[in-house]
Amino acid sequence: MIEISPLLGLRMINDGSVSLISTRQEEKTNVSTVSWQMPLSQDPPMVGIALSPSTRTHKFLRGTGEFVLSIPDVSLIAETHFCGTHQGALMDKVRLMELRTMRARDVIPLLITSCIGHLECIVSESRKFGDRVFYAAKVVMAQVEAEYFDKGWNDNAQTLHHLGGDLYRFGGVIASASKFPLPAQRAPLPNLFEDTRTERFL
Ligand SMILES: Cc1cc2nc3c(=O)[nH]c(=O)nc-3n(C[C@H](O)[C@H](O)[C@H](O)COP(=O)(O)O)c2cc1C
Repeated sequence: MIEISPLLGLRMINDGSVSLISTRQEEKTNVSTVSWQMPLSQDPPMVGIALSPSTRTHKFLRGTGEFVLSIPDVSLIAETHFCGTHQGALMDKVRLMELRTMRARDVIPLLITSCIGHLECIVSESRKFGDRVFYAAKVVMAQVEAEYFDKGWNDNAQTLHHLGGDLYRFGGVIASASKFPLPAQRAPLPNLFEDTRTERFL
C-alpha cells in the first residue's frame, strides 16, 4: 500500500463507486456501505456523505467525528452488500464477513485492508437534509494499493457502482476524452475561450 496526497485521493470516489465506511467507538468497529458520497473541495481536500440517522454508523460518527472510507472492488461484492443491508447494532459485521483490518495513520477507525484504497476523514460540519444527515469531512490521509491506481483507478480496479436494490455495475472501459474530438463545426478556435484561471479541476 502506498500513501498518496489527500487531493489525489479524492479521485478514489470520483467515479461514484461504492465505499465501505468504517467507524469505531469504545473499541467497537462498525462497517457499513455508502454510495451517497462525493468529493466536496480540493483545497482543503474534503468529502461529503449523506447518512441515515437510524444507522450505527451515524451513532458512532456523532460520538467520534472520524471515519474511514475504504473502497471495495468486485471481489468484495457480497460483503459490501451484506454490510449495507444489515445493522451493526445487532451483529459484528467485521467478524461475520471476516474482513481484515489494520490501524489507520491519522484517525481511530480501522482500514478494511481487503479494499483497494482508503480515505481517512475527520468531520468538520454536519447538517440535516430531509431524512439524512450530511457530513462534510476533511481527508487527512489517503492510501491505495499501487497496482490499482495510477493517476486514478486503472483497468485493474473493478470498483462497484450501486444501481439500486441488489444491483451493481462494475468493469467498463476507461477512455481519454482527447480521443473523442468535437466535430470541426462545433470546436471553438484555439485560444478563443482560453481559461485564464489558475485553478484546475482535478
Ligand atoms: C450499496 C449500498 C449503498 C448504501 N448507501 C448508503 C448511503 O449512502 N447512505 C445511507 O444512509 N445508507 C446507505 N446504505 C444503507 C446502509 O448501508 C444500511 O442502512 C446499513 O445497514 C447501515 O448499517 P449500520 O447500522 O451498521 O451503520 C447503502 C446500502 C447499500 C447496500
